[in-house]
Amino acid sequence: MKILHVVGARPNFMKAAPVLRALFRYPELQQKLVHTGQHYDSTMSEVFFDQLAMPKPDYNLEVGSGSHAWQTAEIMTRFEPVILEEKPDLLLVYGDVNSSIGTALVAAKLGRRVAHVEAGLRSWDRSMPEEINRVLTDQISDLFFTPSRDADANLKREGINPQNIFCVGNLMIDTLLRLMPKAQQPRIAGQQNKFLLVTLHRPSNVDDPHMLTQLWDTLNRISKNIQIIFPVHPRTRQRLSDCGLFGTNSHLLLTQPLGYLQFLWLQINATAVVTDSGGIQEETTYLQIPCLTMRQNTERPITVEIGTNILVGRDTKRLEKEVGKILSGFAKKGQVPPLWDGKAGERVAEIVQHIVVT
Ligand code: UD1
Repeated sequence: MKILHVVGARPNFMKAAPVLRALFRYPELQQKLVHTGQHYDSTMSEVFFDQLAMPKPDYNLEVGSGSHAWQTAEIMTRFEPVILEEKPDLLLVYGDVNSSIGTALVAAKLGRRVAHVEAGLRSWDRSMPEEINRVLTDQISDLFFTPSRDADANLKREGINPQNIFCVGNLMIDTLLRLMPKAQQPRIAGQQNKFLLVTLHRPSNVDDPHMLTQLWDTLNRISKNIQIIFPVHPRTRQRLSDCGLFGTNSHLLLTQPLGYLQFLWLQINATAVVTDSGGIQEETTYLQIPCLTMRQNTERPITVEIGTNILVGRDTKRLEKEVGKILSGFAKKGQVPPLWDGKAGERVAEIVQHIVVT
């Protein structure tokens, strides 16, 4: 019996790692790992394989960057021979990136069973490429592993058979719990004890020069009250340089994208986090660190309902206000959602073993 996993972009790695580990306990299941190469910089990919102790991919499709159409088409074309060769009993795809939808579509059309891990999340915002990927991947999958009950309800509403939906909990938190003791302080010259951690890479924030300039000015103003550490995604670096905004100073420290263990240390020790990432909304909720999300919606509403997350929208004045509140000691408190307990990978493995073998 053979399982094929597909990863491609940074947020896939921390979700796939616990499933791979847990499935190794079932020797009757052979596992193979495909990396599409959607992310290829060592700071976006290799460092995660090392720090998460993931096996070397059996295939690297080396797709690289391009427009959505080009990238997705290239993923599909390069993946087809792999699936024809391997004939897996089940394909596992993770999250909502182009690699997930591209490979799921190829497998579904070749009659292979597809499991979507982190299924059912919805932002209800079709202007996000990830939302389109989520909706379509769910429509062509056979098995659905969800992180929370809101995702189950979304899938049922879209006509998915409830018997194929398994609420397994949050895989990112498996990785976080396993690696928290190994979190490493990054070497950032001039870093102070108290800091705000910032990550921004969504097209809605960084591809619009007006918005990016507003964000940049706001961060500069905020940094007069608290130091900012901002590991910059390659996409954001490109956009900042296009707008002539790049430049670091002792209040606003820009760094390369960081490894998992270094970024985790910063999250644990930050006064608050400002982000537009999906996974960071969840990690901060688990760590009980206040999170200000620069988006109008989230596909992870539980982080707002019971976690530490606040949706700030694209409102930079509100961002400044919310940071001010946190600095005055009025940070949002939250709780950890159910099943965010470090055992999601084991739950996935048990169900996969049962379904594939029987
Ligand atoms: C992708 C995911 C997004 C996820 C993000 C995490 C999709 C639709 N989007 O967005 O959901 O939150 O990854 O990082 O799949 N680049 C490099 N080196 C790399 C990778 C990218 O320089 O290793 C640059 C390229 O200029 C590229 C740009 O970043 O064009 C965007 O990369 P891409 O993978 O297309 O999308 P992300 O913005 O990273």
